[in-house]
Amino acid sequence: MVEKERTEVSEAEVAVHWGEEEYYYPPMEFIAQANFTDPTIFDRFSEEHFPECFKEFADMLDWYQYWHTTLDTSNPPFWKWFVGGKLNACYNCVDRHLEANRNKAAFIFVPEPEDEDHSVITYQELYVRVNEMAAVLQSLGLKTGDRVTIHMPMVVELPITMLACARLGIIHSVVFAGFSGQACADRIEDSGSHILVTIDAYYRSGKLLDHKVKADQAVQAAKEMGQEVEKVLVWRRYPGEYHSEAPMVEGRDVFVDDLLKAHRGARVEPVHMPAEAPLFLMYTSGTTGRPKGQQHSTGGYMAYVTWTSWAVQDIHPEDVYWCMADIGWITGHSYIVYGPLSLAATSVIYEGVPTYPDAGRPWRISEQLGVNIFHTSPTAIRMLRKADPDGPKNYPNVQFKHMTTVGEPIEPEVWRWYYHTVGKDKAVIVDTWWQTETGGFLCTTIPAIHAMKPGSAGPALPGIYATVLDDEGNEIPPGAGRAGNIVIRNPWPGITQGIWGNPERFIQTYYAKYNRDPNSKDWRDWPYFAGDAAVQAADGYFRILGRVDDVINVAGHRLGTKEIESAVLTVEEVAEAAVVPRADELKGTVPEVYASLKPGIEPSPEIEQKIVKAVETIISKIARPKNVYLVPDLPKTRSGKIMRRVLAAISNGKDPGDVTTLANPEIVKQIHEMVKARHQAEK
Ligand code: PRX
Repeated sequence: MVEKERTEVSEAEVAVHWGEEEYYYPPMEFIAQANFTDPTIFDRFSEEHFPECFKEFADMLDWYQYWHTTLDTSNPPFWKWFVGGKLNACYNCVDRHLEANRNKAAFIFVPEPEDEDHSVITYQELYVRVNEMAAVLQSLGLKTGDRVTIHMPMVVELPITMLACARLGIIHSVVFAGFSGQACADRIEDSGSHILVTIDAYYRSGKLLDHKVKADQAVQAAKEMGQEVEKVLVWRRYPGEYHSEAPMVEGRDVFVDDLLKAHRGARVEPVHMPAEAPLFLMYTSGTTGRPKGQQHSTGGYMAYVTWTSWAVQDIHPEDVYWCMADIGWITGHSYIVYGPLSLAATSVIYEGVPTYPDAGRPWRISEQLGVNIFHTSPTAIRMLRKADPDGPKNYPNVQFKHMTTVGEPIEPEVWRWYYHTVGKDKAVIVDTWWQTETGGFLCTTIPAIHAMKPGSAGPALPGIYATVLDDEGNEIPPGAGRAGNIVIRNPWPGITQGIWGNPERFIQTYYAKYNRDPNSKDWRDWPYFAGDAAVQAADGYFRILGRVDDVINVAGHRLGTKEIESAVLTVEEVAEAAVVPRADELKGTVPEVYASLKPGIEPSPEIEQKIVKAVETIISKIARPKNVYLVPDLPKTRSGKIMRRVLAAISNGKDPGDVTTLANPEIVKQIHEMVKARHQAEK
């Protein structure tokens, strides 16, 4: 039997020690203006009304043609929503707002350098720019169903490129700009893209970073994997100027601002897309090295993000909404681009880091632009709190009505700081739990309906039948005080359609664990396994504890331990490597590397540095290990399996437990001593 391995240390034990937190109630002023205040929705979305209830979500969109089948379950777990329906995501985000909101700001772009003015792009301007970009894509021979990889930072040209793709039914695959050229290449290869869209440079922490250089690395690495990139489209941070050391490759690289000149004034009809046509791919780290391309649909996804942006984010057209997430992740796709634009929102896109040049930056931006909805991650909140515990206290004009926390568990203490100091006791908070795979929020309070509870995401949204199961598939009742795996018992419109090109892996990862009958066509037999541990309180609120698989959540960025291990193994001196999560005060968790070296090679700080560098260049600086331990051997079972759980315990200063059954128990003691010494030195 394969030994079951978990890098997380017994979540269930942790859970039982937690006390209940007190409720916080939404202010009356918030409720009075809220988009959604109707608690009867939970009746309308009860199981007996499933799946037809989701018409309420889809009706928020403009359809060219209505669907004939709300949910097609003929090929589980590959669900199809709103089958027969036709729509265009770009039309819903742009064209349909022109009549009433042509002159309204869609995006306000805030450059990182504080002396550079922000710029406003209205819905009319967005319409013009998206059409012209769509004409550019068309002129390159791209058509419906093709994939385009976009490796871009937080600039408006990113959503413009995405929307131009969506207009034509081209499937975009956006890669987070912080990822390396190699990581980008993996995604180019997997998606089969022939076109890469990038930018010359962008600002981060006060520096104009050369980004085009990564495109060259990506194209080269993709080529080595057998995927030819024919064209690299290069936006310029300052049109007409070029800020990269990388030369433009003749015949392959083109400046987008040059191409656009030939298409000035072009108008491109939105393609009428079937509801179940893929809108985009978004890659996630997985339990094995290879990233998984989550494929999101047009109709179901758009319906889901539109309704949740409206009911949970409470975005009204007159609000100023700022989500600090990066568009290169799912949060940015769903809650900067597709959801908010579908509602004709005005969104802030900020180029840089929140603490540049100091932790007052978010408050100055909010004051100046009148931001009233603020959306960020626990890591950003912890960083802002640490840098300046006063938060926006001295910015009297900062007044949020609504704040979001997303991406990691938030400690109740940090939540309270967010509530009292950032929200000034006047803003509601939603702690939204969801994943790349889920398209949109799953568990959260609905802000005008539910009380908030620090550290808990909240109940499941209408139409989401969430529960906690133990490893055997038994339900752990609410209030039992025991943790288990959170699952969603039913399909919902926002769920991923599958893993691009890998249906088997999709079933294995999310359904194999709890599927009751692989031949069943009944959705009730296919609970979705999210890969998170959770505990459900008696009031039905879920508290998310973290991943149960080999995924490390670093500052809200999802990284696979296996991916990091593969990077470590590229260092020629390394024989074996294990990567484990270590709790971190600011970032939630950070990776630590344990590596053994090839025979005859002595550990040295140089090798440690080589490992750090390999991780940074192959994956990203965000994956940088906190410590690299060069050890004589890794703890192993008798069958030779590396015991990451033991290493994780040691990294976190915990007792590694009984190790006597290991093949090499003596090594645990040695490693333990080594790590203790390093921890001492850290203090
Ligand atoms: O472990 C959960 C954590 O982030 C994972 C999903 O990461 P990703 O696909 O990158 O999507 C991030 C944006 C939703 C989850 O499996 N996570 C997400 N939201 C929360 C959370 N953990 C605790 N509380 C949350 N609100």
